[in-house]
Amino acid sequence: MKVAHPDTRIGAIATGIDVRALSDADWHALYRTWLDSIVLVIRDQTLTIEEFLAYSRRFGRLKPHRVTRTRHPDHPELTVMGVGTRKPDGKVDRAVFERGGGWHTDSPWDIEICKATQLHAIAIPSHGGDTLFASMYDAYDTLPERLRARVENLKAEHVYGGRGRRGNELLEPDDRLRPPAVHPIVRTHEETGRKSLYANPYHILRIQGVSDAESEELIAELTDHMVATTAQYRHKWQVGDIVIWDNRCALHSATGGYPIEEKRIHWRVTIMQDESE
Ligand SMILES: [Fe+2]
Repeated sequence: MKVAHPDTRIGAIATGIDVRALSDADWHALYRTWLDSIVLVIRDQTLTIEEFLAYSRRFGRLKPHRVTRTRHPDHPELTVMGVGTRKPDGKVDRAVFERGGGWHTDSPWDIEICKATQLHAIAIPSHGGDTLFASMYDAYDTLPERLRARVENLKAEHVYGGRGRRGNELLEPDDRLRPPAVHPIVRTHEETGRKSLYANPYHILRIQGVSDAESEELIAELTDHMVATTAQYRHKWQVGDIVIWDNRCALHSATGGYPIEEKRIHWRVTIMQDESE
């Protein structure tokens, strides 16, 4: 196994392995690399759905995504991203085509913390469609002292699509009415013990305990800091890639910009953190 690090703070790219046949030592090394690097890319895998699910379960419990219409019909834990980009009338379905755009963590609108998301690239367009990742450890470590003191003990409410309820039409009607999930803005990672910022620019509704105006001002200030100044990794997809990222300490954004006529399809799983972690 070879592992390259494009940046010491975020991103690891592993080659020369088959995730279906990992020794215990390789698995532990890979898991540690993922924890330390936030985003782990494994190149050149060709898996069946069952193999992808089995490998994903090594990281934790899989939870079917709240968006039911993109779940695989036989495997509810598997979401198929990038299918149905056109409506029956031929028009582009923006909610599907632009899904994953804008900086966010996955599932902050869930009261359970989402540990990781893992994607397996099935079809990749000729250009565009990269995914960006930003380290929220770095965002916390470099947060100006004044801002850190203001947010240290605050919590934020999150709903699907945030204040603009963007992409809300992907949800079933009942799920659009769910109450917000509340999470601390500064969180301590359960496995690494490091502190990170957890203030999702896309899905955040408001910050509790401050006025609406102050909440908006803080969200804007935090967002600027989180996306403009932090350590980042830009992933250029290849068919066969498996990419897993740690939702507890990273933001990500699908950059779009690929031709609508071309396929960009990923299998996706959402991996939850169990109580004991
Ligand atoms: Fe996402």
